[in-house]
Amino acid sequence: VQAQNNPIQINKGQEITSEILNRIVEKNRHYTTQGKVADYIPELGKANPSKIGIAVVNAQGKVISSGDVSEKFTIQSISKIIALMIAVQENGEENLYKKLGYFGTDQPFNHFGNLDNNGKPLNPMMNAGAIVTTASIQGEGDLGYQKILAMIRYITKNSAINLNEKVYLSEKETGHRNRGMFHILKNSGLIEGTEDKLDNYFKQCSIEVTAVDLAKIGYFFANNGTRFDGDTTYKNIEIARLIQSQMLTAGMYEFSGEYSRTVGLPSKSGVGGGITVSVPHKMGIGVYSPALDEHGNSLAGYQMIVELSKLYDLSIF
Ligand code: DON
Repeated sequence: VQAQNNPIQINKGQEITSEILNRIVEKNRHYTTQGKVADYIPELGKANPSKIGIAVVNAQGKVISSGDVSEKFTIQSISKIIALMIAVQENGEENLYKKLGYFGTDQPFNHFGNLDNNGKPLNPMMNAGAIVTTASIQGEGDLGYQKILAMIRYITKNSAINLNEKVYLSEKETGHRNRGMFHILKNSGLIEGTEDKLDNYFKQCSIEVTAVDLAKIGYFFANNGTRFDGDTTYKNIEIARLIQSQMLTAGMYEFSGEYSRTVGLPSKSGVGGGITVSVPHKMGIGVYSPALDEHGNSLAGYQMIVELSKLYDLSIF
């Protein structure tokens, strides 16, 4: 209780340290009991709601962390930003956005209303737009998924990252809304190809990561596609700007507007309990805590980000 009420104070110009992150974890730990683990994908319902962790990749590319940052969980919707990067690399932004909008939403991530008046998905962050995005990645069978996996392994420099087979099968078996949306979009001519394209979406969501991996992904987009170790193979200012703008507009779904006000940073959440945050031109933040709020965003994760953003004045506004 004491930890909850004690305000954390830092000196001006003080760097983020693991001690500060420890205090942020302890102060926000009580939120883990207030959210609810996602169970609409049955396998996700098995997550331990008491887990909580935060990792930062600072401007020097150094990892600082506290809490359950070695815990693996599925990336879920955070994979949508990686799929978007690859789909834009392959098709160009203009071509891809013939099938997508740049709109925000006031509806949950899997709502059938996330389409504009012409039937185009509002944006690539909601499930409808993400399914179109992944289906736009070239190649037959699971090639689209393999490209997404390879890119996540590259960005994190973690070749051990892999699919959680149980989550994937659970999602495939129960993903009737996504399957329905896939066929609506196919009917509108926005998707070509077989259900393999939908399967790639289920697979990309089932890739297992840690909070540290998410911080590295946040760093990558914050720094125009430069990896945390300085590698510039995929440096691309325009793609980084596009992705961060989409994260800001819709990365937290219908909560994105309020989140822009309270945090002020491009961010993407997943129902596995992760959130990845880009602090433009500076750093990346990754949080994990599987108990979610009513929008499907990690509750304790969000509160830790609010705290860190306020403490270090990270908002872009
Ligand atoms: O398609 C789904 O419903 C999940 N695989 C991903 C949704 C998700 O992560 C929404 N996030 N907060």
